Amino acid sequence: MLTRKVKLAELAEEKAMLTPAYAGRSATAPVPKYALPEGEMAPDVAYRLIHDELMLDGNARLNLATFVTTWMEPEAEKLMAETFDKNMIDKDEYPQTAAIEERCINMVARLFNSPEHEDAVGASTIGSSEAIMLAGMAMKWRWRARRKAAGKPADKPNLVMGSNVQVVWEKFCRYWEVEPRYIPIEHGCYVIRPEDVIACVDENTIGAVAILGTTFTGEFEPIQEIHDAVVAHNEKTGFDVPLHVDAASGGFVAPFLEPDLCWDFRLPQVKSINTSGHKYGLVYPGIGWIVWRDKEELPEDLVFHVNYLGGDMPTFTLNFSRPGNQIVGQYYNFLRLGRSGYTRIMQALRENATWLSGKIAAMGPFELLSDGSAMPVFAFALKDGTKYSVFDISNRLRERGWQVPAYTMPANAQDIAVLRIVVREGFSRDMAGMLLTDLERTVADLQAQPPPNPMAPAPQFKH
Ligand SMILES: Cc1ncc(COP(=O)(O)O)c(C=O)c1O
Repeated sequence: MLTRKVKLAELAEEKAMLTPAYAGRSATAPVPKYALPEGEMAPDVAYRLIHDELMLDGNARLNLATFVTTWMEPEAEKLMAETFDKNMIDKDEYPQTAAIEERCINMVARLFNSPEHEDAVGASTIGSSEAIMLAGMAMKWRWRARRKAAGKPADKPNLVMGSNVQVVWEKFCRYWEVEPRYIPIEHGCYVIRPEDVIACVDENTIGAVAILGTTFTGEFEPIQEIHDAVVAHNEKTGFDVPLHVDAASGGFVAPFLEPDLCWDFRLPQVKSINTSGHKYGLVYPGIGWIVWRDKEELPEDLVFHVNYLGGDMPTFTLNFSRPGNQIVGQYYNFLRLGRSGYTRIMQALRENATWLSGKIAAMGPFELLSDGSAMPVFAFALKDGTKYSVFDISNRLRERGWQVPAYTMPANAQDIAVLRIVVREGFSRDMAGMLLTDLERTVADLQAQPPPNPMAPAPQFKH
């Protein structure tokens, strides 16, 4: 939300004020909501006012909509609180935070089987969205250089991807003036297929995107097959279309649960990969990572060198200042968990997810679009002929505190509406059992008394 339009009615005097509830104990005077207060207030009063208002937010641990971490160990929280004040961009002032960032980039690159893992080319970002913007720019710059070198026009770049991409890819295309070529998904197949990618590729294609863990169902796209088809097509046509893997969610899952799955830099045409440290990297928001295959894939004129903080500092990020504490939180997890710790956690999450999806499938009214066996995420729809909608279910579950999102699938499966559950650390088998009981009760109630007008979806997701 860039700006919030304050409704006129809200500006009526009493609505534009916060009225303290602890009369006589701390403060009794109302405080303006939309204007900077004239005076000061005691820290405990400010804390109490804000703390109380935030009670109306959903409970993060019952939020099964988000992929983002909602629980970390107390030691990680302590370290992160100790490092809130460090600006990660001030690398000269905070050389150890910079060294830790460097180590993390190398660890992530190694996890993705980078050939350059000793001297990995990458950056930490605020999340996968920033990482994707950087990867997209590098693809566009590289394509433009190839076109110019061949004496060909470079004014009509396009990017090939599924209609199931996260909105950041749409933003990238609009902000950087690249034509998006969306491959529609279909009933029964919610990932893109190699032949559809090839059908969309031409000499103006800056790259193709494959997703390791789609936002809609959590499934892995067939990356090796897409890669092999792109390589064969490049050989036939003389193009040099690179593949980018959007591993926002799966980047910290597949290496531990499916180490033999070939989706990363083991595939030579995979030139860049993004992942979110704040998803299955198990760090509070916001931290993401972008890694390129080698130096060649990151055009030098995208990297700026600044010296006003002392020393030469190469930077390739969209924003500048950012707290160093998320990097520290990521490093804590890497040291604390290691490969075996991440593997144990991911196995436990997968077991929880597949247990829950199995129980939901057995309830009767639902069919699964995915079962949580790739990533601990699954989506399910109501069978035809039900007299209530997934939106009714989502709403009723909310009354018990559970946040289970309902949404429609992208083109060409917009007529399918689903519920999705993201199983994360902190969502125990016990909680899964409680959710199941609430879901069974909700379904029984809705079956006994169907709503006169089943809820329709909110405005559809569309590209
Ligand atoms: C596949 C995919 N790509 C990109 C993103 C954006 O990631 P972030 O929230 O880290 O910016 C998401 C977020 O859910 C995602 O699922």
